[in-house]
Amino acid sequence: MNIDGKLIKLGFLDDRLVETIMVTPSRSNVKSYNTAPIGVWKENKKLVSKVYDNSNTFMNLVEYGKGSLNITHNVISFAKSLISDVDIEKDMKIENSDAVIEVEVLDSIEFGNFYKLYFDPISVDFYVENPRSFCRSEGAIIEALIDATRQREKVNNSGMINHYKEIVDKTGSKKEKKIMERIEEYSNNVA
Ligand SMILES: Cc1cc2nc3c(=O)[nH]c(=O)nc-3n(C[C@H](O)[C@H](O)[C@H](O)COP(=O)(O)O)c2cc1C
Repeated sequence: MNIDGKLIKLGFLDDRLVETIMVTPSRSNVKSYNTAPIGVWKENKKLVSKVYDNSNTFMNLVEYGKGSLNITHNVISFAKSLISDVDIEKDMKIENSDAVIEVEVLDSIEFGNFYKLYFDPISVDFYVENPRSFCRSEGAIIEALIDATRQREKVNNSGMINHYKEIVDKTGSKKEKKIMERIEEYSNNVA
């Protein structure tokens, strides 16, 4: 399977926003690598993200021009990458990641306090047979479904359903956006 095929298998389809744990070589003397959750999507054969210019991740990318995107469905790993240190097993692979995409920065465009960064995916390594990525639309769809069932019991949750729809519109695949519209219709009809 070529790199683009592997990215699609990892959930980078349509303009779906995949949450990754980005590892960058660190500018600090205290640790060799920095880890942070960063959302990434695919445009043609390139990967793209918006990264705030005050983050270590951004400054490391400017300094070294490379990093890795660790793919996992494990929410504990996302939390640990942000609030405490996760173990780096080898190179730029964190413990328990399902797949690792090695990236090089191709281009950056400034938008106020963040930059849109374009990455070349240099390699994609799978560490389990069926790697699973995380997309925020998954949780949002389940939450919207729960609220829709409550709506049936005459609890008005339309505000929450709109909120989940915004998340799905921002992060989901075409199929996820479509099913979210149907959940909204269902919810309006039972209200
Ligand atoms: C699930 C999740 C997704 C995130 N996505 C992004 C993102 O796409 N771009 C960004 O700049 N920050 C994003 N953040 C916030 C950064 O992870 C956060 O600012 C972090 O503290 C940056 O760490 P650093 O200074 O070590 O790079 C995200 C956070 C979470 C929890």
